[in-house]
Amino acid sequence: MLILLQTCYRSELADIVTMRRVRERDVVCLLLLTLLILYLLMWFWFGSLQPASSVFLNYEVDKMLGQERQGKVKESRSNLDVVTVAGLGQRRLCPLGSFRLSKMETCMPWLGCKEITNEVTIKLNIGSGTVKKVYKAVWRNHTVAYSRLKNTTYFEDFSEGIEMLKTLQHPSVLQFVGSCNTTLLTEFYKFGSANFFIKKVLKLYSYRKFDNVRTRFNMALSYLEAIHSLHNSPVGTRVMCDSNSVHKSLTQFLVTQDFKLVLSDLDATPEVNHEANLFIKCGSRRIVSDFVAPEQLWPFENETFDDSRMPSYDEKTDIWKIPGVVDYLLGKVNGSEVIRLHLFKVHQQCHNRDPRQRPTTKVLLEEYNRVKNMFFPEHIT
Ligand SMILES: Nc1ncnc2c1ncn2[C@@H]1O[C@H](COP(=O)(O)OP(=O)(O)O)[C@@H](O)[C@H]1O
Ligand SMILES: *[C@@H]1O[C@H](CO)[C@@H](O)[C@H](O)[C@H]1NC(C)=O
Ligand SMILES: *[C@@H]1O[C@H](CO)[C@@H](O)[C@H](O)[C@H]1NC(C)=O
Ligand SMILES: *[C@@H]1O[C@H](CO)[C@@H](O)[C@H](O)[C@H]1NC(C)=O
Ligand SMILES: *[C@@H]1O[C@H](CO)[C@@H](O)[C@H](O)[C@H]1NC(C)=O
Ligand SMILES: *[C@@H]1O[C@H](CO)[C@@H](O)[C@H](O)[C@H]1NC(C)=O
Ligand SMILES: [Mg+2]
Repeated sequence: MLILLQTCYRSELADIVTMRRVRERDVVCLLLLTLLILYLLMWFWFGSLQPASSVFLNYEVDKMLGQERQGKVKESRSNLDVVTVAGLGQRRLCPLGSFRLSKMETCMPWLGCKEITNEVTIKLNIGSGTVKKVYKAVWRNHTVAYSRLKNTTYFEDFSEGIEMLKTLQHPSVLQFVGSCNTTLLTEFYKFGSANFFIKKVLKLYSYRKFDNVRTRFNMALSYLEAIHSLHNSPVGTRVMCDSNSVHKSLTQFLVTQDFKLVLSDLDATPEVNHEANLFIKCGSRRIVSDFVAPEQLWPFENETFDDSRMPSYDEKTDIWKIPGVVDYLLGKVNGSEVIRLHLFKVHQQCHNRDPRQRPTTKVLLEEYNRVKNMFFPEHIT
């Protein structure tokens, strides 16, 4: 908004100097200002007076999804697990180089080889991908996740993932606890990966009451926030490459106690830098999928694949994938159709064949927050 006003003001000044097309400019600015006023009126109309927070990422983890607002206080009280851990959602991030698990009072320095070797007990296997085998483990009475490199072929990816995890520590990212060569210790998420949560946890008797559009929309928003933090990371614009299907995309995320998605697997997040003309390719093999962005597909259909002739691309591949993932997250519950309708236009823009025409995560966040303020306004605190 301010930029718009500034542009009108500046262009007016410039026009006075050149004495050209002043009338046209004025008319356009007047129209834009009218729109601006109408937009402001809309805010008051919907009674959500937190416009600033919709533009910038709210780095503080939100409260529980406000089940109280849906008259579900009693139900959630009866569910001890969810209530007792609700406070976890307010966990502030520890200073870089330290961590804090749910029952810890203070932050502690990241663990190294000594602590991992002497103080960690491995329990059962809880998951596995191409690179890691993951176990539930105990460190000094705290449950943690212990990941071990599966095959030395992927040592580079594994180490890269650890370095990324350490540099990207943020409420949208899995909390790092420690590492030692081919082992990694992280916070344990009992809800597991995002697709496990959607397919299994939300169907459980004690969680079925949370399987509603509010929970699902908040999951979608947290997913978008995570992609936003990846695209605006301290180490540049990073792309979530390991995402050739909805299922694959969602296994890279874990679900917190307050049902938010956090980035977990950062092994394949290469850097894009437009100024430096640095573009990426997700792997060196041909991608065959109707989920990925069109520029990720081999363009010479009737010729054999040759990676050296395969063009590179940028972070807008992630943007192309957002509608598909969000559509899956919203699912088929009461109210999800209305949300879909309100996101329709911006999602359509995500599917522009020209990557440059697709919106950024910032634009998407503004749109999602508009929908959030319209349907799920938070308590004013
Ligand atoms: N901190 C964690 N808490 C709970 N489950 C986890 C955790 N980290 C990983 N997992 C489980 O293990 C699976 C594989 O982990 P991931 O890091 O994606 O391995 P890979 O790099 O081999 O793909 C995840 O999809 C998830 O189900
Ligand atoms: C760990 O838990 C056990 C049993 O719950 C308890 O006996 C023990 O004192 C605890 N140890 C520490 C260091 O808190
Ligand atoms: C590790 O990966 C390589 C290459 O994919 C494979 O040849 C080898 O058998 C694997 N080793 C183990 C122990 O799985
Ligand atoms: C770390 O792991 C790699 C791969 O397994 C191994 O080659 C190397 O010796 C290990 N380094 C240390 C210090 O243990
Ligand atoms: C490849 O496709 C082009 C047009 O798309 C066509 O002209 C050409 O004959 C095709 N070549 C082969 C070998 O099929
Ligand atoms: C959706 O809402 C309608 C009317 O309120 C209700 O009859 C129906 O059972 C609900 N469906 C689901 C899946 O909750
Ligand atoms: Mg993975």
